[in-house]
Amino acid sequence: MRTVVVITGASGSVYGVELLRRLPGERFAIVTKWGKVVLKEEMGLSTGDLGAHCDGVFSDEDLASPLSSGSNPFDAVVVLPASADFLAKVAAGISDSLGTRVSHIALKERRRLVIGLRESPLTGIALDNAARVSREGAIVMPVSPFFYLKPDSIERLVGDFVDRVVQATTGRPMGEGWRRGELPADDS
Ligand SMILES: Cc1cc2nc3c(=O)[nH]c(=O)nc-3n(C[C@H](O)[C@H](O)[C@H](O)COP(=O)(O)O)c2cc1C
Repeated sequence: MRTVVVITGASGSVYGVELLRRLPGERFAIVTKWGKVVLKEEMGLSTGDLGAHCDGVFSDEDLASPLSSGSNPFDAVVVLPASADFLAKVAAGISDSLGTRVSHIALKERRRLVIGLRESPLTGIALDNAARVSREGAIVMPVSPFFYLKPDSIERLVGDFVDRVVQATTGRPMGEGWRRGELPADDS
C-alpha cells in the first residue's frame, strides 16, 4: 500500500508525524508552507526530520512531482492535520499545490481521501465544505480524541486517534478496539 500524508498549517502536527510512523507500507509526506511553521513551532522539527519516518518528503510547491499525475498509482491520501483553508481549496476543486493536487487526484480517481480537519469553532462555510467533500467520497475525520480506551498520556491519546485514522485509510483493524476481545476471531 502507498499512502501520501499531507501535513498542513493547522495545529496538531504531532498527529501527522505519528501517522507517518504508524502507517503500514510505503508512505510519502508533503508539508505545506504553514505546515512547516507549525511543525517547527509545536514539535521543533523540520521537514528534513520527517525523512526518518517515511519513504520520502515531497515539496508542496513541486507540481511537477511524480505524485502530481493520476498516472502514478497511490492508494490513499490523508490530510492530517487539515486546516479549514486546505479543506476549502479541496471543496472548491482547487489544486494549485502538490497537497491539494494529490487530494484532487484521490477524488477524481476514486481513491481513498481522509481529511483530519482541525479547527474550532467551525464556520458554516467549513461545515458546508466538509459536507461537500464527504459527498464526493472523502472521509472527514475531525481531529477529535476519545477517552474510552482510558489514555494515560498525551502520546497515548494521540496514538489512539491516529490508529483510527490508519484504520479508516487501510480498512484494516489497527490498535485496540472497544471490548474487541469479546468478538469472535475473524478467520476470513
Ligand atoms: C500556530 C498556528 C496554528 C494554527 N492552527 C490552525 C488550526 O488549528 N486550524 C486551521 O484551520 N488553521 C490554523 N492555522 C492557520 C493556518 O495555518 C492558515 O489558515 C494557513 O493558511 C493554512 O494553510 P495550509 O492549509 O496551506 O497549510 C494556524 C496557524 C498557526 C501559525
